Amino acid sequence: MPDSEHDSIKPNNLDNLIINTIQALVQLTVIGLLFFLSICGFLIYENENKKVEERTERVAFCGVGSLRKVRSIHDTIKVEYANIDLGKTLFRNYCATCHNKNMKDDLTGPALGGVTERWKDYPNEDLFKFIRNSQEMIKSGHPRAVKLWTEWKPTFMNSFEDLTDEEIVAIIAYIEYW
Ligand code: HEC
Repeated sequence: MPDSEHDSIKPNNLDNLIINTIQALVQLTVIGLLFFLSICGFLIYENENKKVEERTERVAFCGVGSLRKVRSIHDTIKVEYANIDLGKTLFRNYCATCHNKNMKDDLTGPALGGVTERWKDYPNEDLFKFIRNSQEMIKSGHPRAVKLWTEWKPTFMNSFEDLTDEEIVAIIAYIEYW
C-alpha cells in the first residue's frame, strides 16, 4: 500500500523539480544577461569619459556642462578654457549635417579632424572668419580658403555669422579633443 502511494507522488515531485530547475536557470540567465549588459554600458561610458579626461583637465563642473581646461589645443589657437559640451551641442546642431561626426571621413564637407594643423600658417582670426563666412574668405583670395574651394566647389558651406569667438573655440576644441 505505501508503495503505490509512494510511486504516485514520486514522478510529480520529479516533474516539479525539473520545472523549478528550468525556471531557476532561465531566471539566472536573464539576470546574468542584464548584469553583463549593464557592465558593458558602464565600461563604454567610462571609456568615453576617459578619452576627454586624458586630453583635458576639468576646472569646473556645473551640473549640466563641464568647463574643461584644454591642455594642448594646437599652438595657433590660444585657448585656455573651452566648454567642450557646448562645442558638442553646437557641432551636432550646425555642422554635423555636412561634417562627419567621426571627424575622420569626408561627407558633404571635408573631415574636420586636425583642422587647426591645416590652418597653422594663418592667424586664428582667419579660421574664425572662414567658419563665419567661407564665401567671403574665398572671394578675398585667402590661400587655404581658395584651395578648399577648388576641391569642394560647387558645395557651399553655410555662413554662421552669429557664432561668438567663445562658441567657435568650443566647437574647435570639441573637433580636436573629443
Ligand atoms: C552645408 C554643408 C556645411 C555645413 C552645415 C557646414 N560646413 Fe563646413 N564646410 C563645408 C564644405 C563644402 C567645406 C569645403 C569648403 C567649401 O566648399 O566652402 C567646408 C569646410 C569647412 C572648414 C575648413 C576645413 C579645412 O580642412 O580647412 C571648416 C573649419 C569648417 N567647414 C567648419 C564648419 C563648422 C564649424 C560648421 C558648423 C558651425 C560647418 N563647417 C558647417 C560644408 C558645410
